[in-house]
Amino acid sequence: MRGDKWRMRLLARLALVGWFGLALLVLAVLARHREQAPVAPVQPIDFPHTVHADRLKLACTFCHTFADRSSRAGVPPLATCMACHRSIAVERPEVRKLRGHVERREPVVWQRVHRLPDHVHFTHKRHVRAGVDCSACHGAVAKMERTKRVRPLTMGWCVTCHRARGAPTDCATCHR
Ligand code: HEC
Ligand code: HEC
Ligand code: HEC
Ligand code: HEC
Ligand code: HEC
Repeated sequence: MRGDKWRMRLLARLALVGWFGLALLVLAVLARHREQAPVAPVQPIDFPHTVHADRLKLACTFCHTFADRSSRAGVPPLATCMACHRSIAVERPEVRKLRGHVERREPVVWQRVHRLPDHVHFTHKRHVRAGVDCSACHGAVAKMERTKRVRPLTMGWCVTCHRARGAPTDCATCHR
């Protein structure tokens, strides 16, 4: 019966590894899930910051109008786009798509490039008013054909800058 005992022990060990392995797998999947938010999601309309922010030199806050007065920077309503695109580049395929949305009264669902977990408190207003440039957190957006995330948005990243700039680092600053 030595063989049986040995087999039981093996099975017990496998079972243990099984649960543990499963737990590890779940954790790994969760971690990957978080990391897998695409760095540069495909947008419903291929909007180029290069043309608007670099070539035309429109101010960031011309479109992201709430950045200096609200927690959210905001993405512009289609009316802002149509102020120009009623008459500019109307035959371009991506601008036609834009007009299609306006005519159908169907909002464009822009895909989020940056998103913090819900348990984190963040506000644009404080940063923008303190003179922290958009590029410190978003990189050189004006040079991006497609908007991408260039900073990790981890707690370590936030806290490192807070330390360097003398901003508060107690937990309640960002977790409420
Ligand atoms: C003509 C309007 C316009 C101007 C000017 C503009 N943006 Fe945008 N921005 C948009 C639109 C539309 C989107 C949504 C599509 C996308 O993500 O590319 C966007 C998206 C973004 C995002 C990603 C938001 C997210 O989902 O996380 C950032 C960051 C951003 N803009 C920063 C800037 C900065 C910085 C400037 C100035 C250098 C700027 N924008 C100028 C229209 C504009
Ligand atoms: C201040 C005027 C202005 C505003 C506001 C504006 N655009 Fe433009 N847009 C332009 C100009 C000018 C071009 C370049 C046309 C050219 O290359 O001849 C352009 C180009 C584009 C193109 C690229 C066309 C191509 O194929 O090269 C897209 C897409 C576009 N705009 C979408 C938008 C969207 C979406 C918004 C609103 C968030 C917006 N635009 C707001 C002036 C504007
Ligand atoms: C201190 C870092 C920081 C600065 C400075 C900053 N942002 Fe952001 N931005 C973020 C973070 C973090 C998010 C994601 C917020 C969330 O998920 O709640 C974000 C999200 C956004 C978004 C999408 C969601 C929204 O708020 O509407 C836009 C658009 C945006 N930023 C534009 C800008 C522009 C334009 C500027 C400069 C005027 C700017 N940001 C300055 C860190 C920053
Ligand atoms: C590039 C530097 C920088 C980065 C990155 C940064 N911050 Fe800040 N943050 C500041 C500065 C500077 C202030 C102080 C603003 C002031 O004095 O009003 C501040 C203030 C704040 C405040 C207001 C503090 C208060 O007194 O209530 C919050 C909340 C905050 N940051 C959250 C975040 C979060 C969350 C992140 C990361 C997602 C982040 N910050 C990333 C520079 C930064
Ligand atoms: C300046 C902003 C800031 C401060 C201060 C801060 N955090 Fe965070 N914290 C974040 C951000 C952003 C995230 C989400 C990103 C991440 O998980 O790295 C986070 C995530 C977390 C998480 C979840 C980790 C996970 O894996 O999801 C815990 C727990 C946490 N913080 C605890 C704390 C504690 C405890 C303190 C005080 C010692 C603190 N934080 C101070 C910004 C901050």
